[in-house]
Amino acid sequence: MYNATAHLRELHAPGRKLCFYPSCGNRFLSPLLSLKSDVFVLSDYYARTPEGRRKFWGRIVREFASHGVPLTLYKATKSVRVAESRGKWLFLFFLDNNKTLERIAETGWQISQFVGLNDGCREGGNYECVHDEPFLGRLLAGMRDGADYFTDHSDILTTPNLPRSTRSHALYKSHFLHESGRLLLLSRILIIRGLTRKKAEDNNRSEPEVFQPPVCREAPSPAAWRSIEESAALELLKMIPFRTLQHTGIIAHYQVAAAVAETTAGRANQTRHASQ
Ligand SMILES: C[S@@+](CC[C@H](N)C(=O)[O-])C[C@H]1O[C@@H](n2cnc3c(N)ncnc32)[C@H](O)[C@@H]1O
Repeated sequence: MYNATAHLRELHAPGRKLCFYPSCGNRFLSPLLSLKSDVFVLSDYYARTPEGRRKFWGRIVREFASHGVPLTLYKATKSVRVAESRGKWLFLFFLDNNKTLERIAETGWQISQFVGLNDGCREGGNYECVHDEPFLGRLLAGMRDGADYFTDHSDILTTPNLPRSTRSHALYKSHFLHESGRLLLLSRILIIRGLTRKKAEDNNRSEPEVFQPPVCREAPSPAAWRSIEESAALELLKMIPFRTLQHTGIIAHYQVAAAVAETTAGRANQTRHASQ
């Protein structure tokens, strides 16, 4: 009998990268596969009946088709759809995000890319935020050093008291030291100004900008900063269609690193302003 976890384990090999997108929904997934990862693990527990899962997957298939991205179904079971697209694998688990995270951990994979967008914590649908405890601690434990961390909201990473409904945070902390000792280092913020539903439909004509905070110069412990390479910016640029399809403008890109100096902890609350 087919076992998706075993399949995921078989795909694990040195140099291969896994992207995890919890609370993935079914609307904007084809652009995701342009990220550098080889395997994409998605989870969403919305569909709880065979019919619901069939419809949920059907929407994904149509979205891929409408953007001309091939998608070939490999296996369909009660808890998972597994598909291939241009040599990449996609696993959609109809499970709670935490259960999916456990499965990834069981396979020996470490997460290289994390997409934490619109997870339902504010619109309703999620009982927790993927950027907050306890999920964040579990997630960071499963992420590799140098991993990409994309977010459009976070009480931990943004300044407080912004309206809870907004997905356009302009203030992101330059770095955050998690209690586990892992650091999140702000790499860049993608801003798409003047984005409206009309413009998105007009072939994504909004002008995207990538804002790069001068974190390396101003870091309390510059040695703690990895050299944030051009390839990191490229990964963020790949998120543009993902954003324009959703009609919301800002994504922050952090990199996960091991903390090297205690001193970094005390000053882990700097902010950078990226006006909209
Ligand atoms: C607001 S929708 C957004 C979906 C997608 N991120 C997007 O931007 O289109 C949130 C989705 O997260 C799913 N969800 C919320 N909490 C979840 C959890 N704990 N585990 C799995 N899926 C969850 C919901 O079923 C819903 O489909």
